[in-house]
Amino acid sequence: VEGGELRVLVTGASGGLGRYVLRELKMNGYEVFAPSSSEMPVQNRLYVLNTIEHAQPQAILHLAALANVDRCSTEPELAMAVNALGTMHVAEAAVFKRIRLVYASTNDVFSECVGGPFSEDRVPVPGMPYSSTKLTGELAVRAVGGYAIRANFFTRHCNAKKSFVDYVLTSAKKEDPFPCYTNVLSTPVHASTLAKRLVDALMTPETGVLHLCSYNFMTRAEQAEAILRAYGLPTDRISPVPLLERRGRPLDARLTSIFGGVVGSIADEIKKLVTLEPL
Ligand SMILES: NC(=O)c1ccc[n+]([C@@H]2O[C@H](COP(=O)([O-])OP(=O)(O)OC[C@H]3O[C@@H](n4cnc5c(N)ncnc54)[C@H](OP(=O)(O)O)[C@@H]3O)[C@@H](O)[C@H]2O)c1
Repeated sequence: VEGGELRVLVTGASGGLGRYVLRELKMNGYEVFAPSSSEMPVQNRLYVLNTIEHAQPQAILHLAALANVDRCSTEPELAMAVNALGTMHVAEAAVFKRIRLVYASTNDVFSECVGGPFSEDRVPVPGMPYSSTKLTGELAVRAVGGYAIRANFFTRHCNAKKSFVDYVLTSAKKEDPFPCYTNVLSTPVHASTLAKRLVDALMTPETGVLHLCSYNFMTRAEQAEAILRAYGLPTDRISPVPLLERRGRPLDARLTSIFGGVVGSIADEIKKLVTLEPL
């Protein structure tokens, strides 16, 4: 998809996903306007409306969020202000300016659901504040004709917290075995795969929601092993253990898609990780 001279406003550009979105936008010739969280704190309605009025974008990619799940639980009011209200402000600006809005949502909207894989026709039941505030934001986006992509993605560098990839890579260098769960299932993609789909969606007429996921699933322990093997590192420090209870999140967090969101294998996604994020 070629962006031509289309001007896109990106929120959350400094995040783990944002760096791949910026790269994808630039590769496709988009003009990018990426206000930081201090230039445009999304919870502040007037900042959002004024910044978008000033920038005159032709589309918005909304990635900004309080993406640290634990912090959302300890500061639920902030999560509500940033993830829910903040997204409503962005949706209001998009509908006012009559421009395309694409939103990064999450598989965590299913945090209270049992029995994955979850497809787009499954009713989400969010439990923890991160999930419920992201779902509220998603509904605001969908209510104004925008498009939400739900995914579980991995990258080494996340602002919000230490990423799973980073946990695996740093733990593998230490003497002690490190636990990786044998009963937490997911269908993640690399951040670059999600970034590409989000950017492609700027030029499509799709509305509603898409699940973007790998076609096979792996347990956390299998993912750790696959990541270490792909980087050529020893796997013997992995200690495969079952997780007895996953508070606020399902053990089975797999996604599937009835709208064409199933992509390659997890192994393919891990290859992208190694190529794009070498040691
Ligand atoms: N990580 C995952 O596995 C995952 C999975 C599915 C969906 N998502 C969603 O994907 C998006 C990006 O996640 P990520 O992992 O890249 O997060 P991240 O690394 O924590 O980055 C969050 C971004 O949002 C910005 N931001 C935070 N609070 C803001 C505010 N009040 N106003 C404006 N901007 C603010 C941050 O700016 P500063 O750097 O200035 O704070 C940063 O650019 C989020 O919407 C998240 O919910 C994440």
